[in-house]
Amino acid sequence: MAAKIIDGKQVAEAIREELKAETAKLIKEKGVTPGLVTILVGENPASVSYVTAKQKASKELGFHSVQDSQPADIREADLLALVDGYNKDPKIHGILVQLPLPKHINESKVLYAIDPDKDVDGFHPVNIGRLMIGKAKFLPCTPAGIQQLLIRSGATIEGAEVVVVGRSNIVGKPIANMLLQKQDGANATVTVCHTRTKDMASHTRRADILIVAAGKPNAVTADMVKEGAVVIDVGVNRVGEKESTKTPGKMVAILKGDVDFDGVKEKAGAITPVPGGVGPMTITMLMQNTLASAKIASER
Ligand code: GUN
Repeated sequence: MAAKIIDGKQVAEAIREELKAETAKLIKEKGVTPGLVTILVGENPASVSYVTAKQKASKELGFHSVQDSQPADIREADLLALVDGYNKDPKIHGILVQLPLPKHINESKVLYAIDPDKDVDGFHPVNIGRLMIGKAKFLPCTPAGIQQLLIRSGATIEGAEVVVVGRSNIVGKPIANMLLQKQDGANATVTVCHTRTKDMASHTRRADILIVAAGKPNAVTADMVKEGAVVIDVGVNRVGEKESTKTPGKMVAILKGDVDFDGVKEKAGAITPVPGGVGPMTITMLMQNTLASAKIASER
């Protein structure tokens, strides 16, 4: 039987409706408007489109939204000073520095300069540490989106064999850690596979939940998947360009995940598409983190 398609867009919209109502309540009852600044250095087209989408979502929820665009040749010291200004700005509850940064800037240095209590991306080592000991303040957005998709699509996580393909700091390592916590929406047995794993398929075939963040198209094919498994495809690979259906004459990227969708959907119990699976969830979780940060600030 063909797999159930997990509609990330629909789940994301449902969560955004909840966030919108909570935002209005926070503004009305506490007089605090969640504030998010997105800092973009240079004009990398993918980064521009991500930041534009983040700003759009932020405005739609009624947040105080600041887009701070800086030239590609900004000095590292000036960028650090900019971040520090937002650390001290009481109207800002979330600071996001869009990655990648130009080569002359030390990315870690900039990320570590963000106040961990405003680090809505969840990339700061303090937040990674909090996550690891089960006391997360901000979950990194893509892993948080994956966990919500699993919970809201009714997957059984507790006791499940979860296999994660990929060990990045942004997806693989944090999602593995989140799902093994002694907490609701977790309590799984987790295996992490990577480029040096011997006989990858022997691991992936045991998975009740298979999370693929390999960064490579067709990294997972049907023969590597157990019948009925829940498959979450985190990959976003630009495999070409096509004309936009919305704006004639405009070229847009053709996206493909890390999973051979057509083959795997015949075997899996449920699967996320690309686009329209994990992608829409990531920005939604950024909004959730920003709202959470504002709520904490309103209680101080
Ligand atoms: N670049 C690609 N993905 C991300 C993300 O989730 N956060 C930031 N800050 N930059 C990115």
